[in-house]
Amino acid sequence: MVKVKFLGHAAFLIEGSKKILIDPFLSGNPKAAVKPEEVEADLILVTHAHGDHVGDAVEIARRTGAKIVAMYDLANYLVEKESGITTIGMNYGPTEIDGVFIVQVPAWHSSSDGKYSIGNACGYIIKLDGITIYHAGDTFVFGDMALFNELYGPIDVALLPIGGHFTMGPREAAKAVELLRPRKVVPMHYSTWPPIAQDPEEFKKLVGDKAEVVILQPGEELEL
Ligand code: NI
Ligand code: MN
Repeated sequence: MVKVKFLGHAAFLIEGSKKILIDPFLSGNPKAAVKPEEVEADLILVTHAHGDHVGDAVEIARRTGAKIVAMYDLANYLVEKESGITTIGMNYGPTEIDGVFIVQVPAWHSSSDGKYSIGNACGYIIKLDGITIYHAGDTFVFGDMALFNELYGPIDVALLPIGGHFTMGPREAAKAVELLRPRKVVPMHYSTWPPIAQDPEEFKKLVGDKAEVVILQPGEELEL
């Protein structure tokens, strides 16, 4: 069994034979379900350099010994800036890390420390214990999402931003569901702050019977 736990904003903990933490923005996150010191992980996947995604990755990696997986440029940036962490830099493509199949996939979004660009933004497709999970990161919808399903599907669960302003809104995310054809979808990256306030029920309506929309409150989890 694989558990997908929503930690708030874009942060998820995937628990199976390995613990995979994604975009652990917890300190300073008004919707965070846990404190950074309460999280255990083997791998920490980061989708891009923005603060609401790198979050507490460094602190958690130092304490747990988890390796940080990120785009090559961001991995190098973190190692140069911080001590006591191990990073695995990669780029768009498939790899296997500690027995977990991971594909770093494109995302249409910027990646920077707020000022200077650091590599590109990405999403991840993860195959753990026979379950396929897609975390889109921050992105707009794009037609090549259909390839993710063709190459790596069926996708058991897609974690999609619906907040608008910085990413897809509900309408675009519903189109992404059409392209990805996942079994289940969990909306994320909404209502953390006023500019990305959204009603997830609206997204659910737009998706209709194309997939099962599972609305998780921070701290809640989905079993697959
Ligand atoms: Ni971002
Ligand atoms: Mn973001």
